Amino acid sequence: MKLVAAESLETGDLELVRGIYEDGFPPHLRASFSSLLADRAYVLVDDAPIGFAVLRPLASTGWVFLRYFVAGSRGRGVGSMLWTHLTGAMGEAGFTRMVHDVEDPAESGVDAEEVVVRNRRISFYERNGALLLPVESYLPPHGDDEEPHSLRLMAVDLNRAPTPPIVGDDLRALVEAVYEHRYGLSPADPVVRRTVVSSGLA
Ligand SMILES: CC(C)(COP(=O)(O)OP(=O)(O)OC[C@H]1O[C@@H](n2cnc3c(N)ncnc32)[C@H](O)[C@@H]1OP(=O)(O)O)[C@@H](O)C(=O)NCCC(=O)NCCS
Repeated sequence: MKLVAAESLETGDLELVRGIYEDGFPPHLRASFSSLLADRAYVLVDDAPIGFAVLRPLASTGWVFLRYFVAGSRGRGVGSMLWTHLTGAMGEAGFTRMVHDVEDPAESGVDAEEVVVRNRRISFYERNGALLLPVESYLPPHGDDEEPHSLRLMAVDLNRAPTPPIVGDDLRALVEAVYEHRYGLSPADPVVRRTVVSSGLA
């Protein structure tokens, strides 16, 4: 089993990866598959592709943002193996922290079944060493025609386990870096200010 750059795969395997990606995310949460290959896209391969992740460095912070993370099957440890390979590779590449966002189980209007899925997902990342960050009103923009979704931020330290708490100015820098370098919103943007103020980080 190994983690490889998506661009190193042949067309047939890339089509399998596309299938894993499209099965894992509903259309409204997906960017086009071809656009992902412009970011850093990695595939866990065990004979055939079994997992897929897309990352984007957060400029010069030394942190990397995990845009997409998906296992080709559920509940068989593939997600955990992908996580282990990915965090190892990102640490070796010199990043110190990997950050990602997840759908908020407490978002209003979400049905009970979806709340369970969202909580299971968070538990998966926590079990694998990521921390759920104390950030409130984190509402990054999504598609042009959509209301922003309520998300939660998570992060894992790539040099130390367990991940030490991320608080205060460090947390504020993380929030601002994600908004700016992942979503294109400057620290002065009202959406960013709202998150910083609501989280007691102003
Ligand atoms: C979340 C995900 C990567 C976990 O991969 P996995 O191979 O199933 O995980 P593992 O077998 O290593 O660990 C099992 C744990 O994963 C989580 N998990 C498994 N299936 C899940 C599902 N359908 N939805 C949410 N979480 C799930 C649970 O925490 C589960 O533990 P539990 O059975 O005790 O609740 C995988 O379910 C997935 O690809 N989901 C679709 C895409 C997605 O939601 N990506 C994350 C976006 S933030």
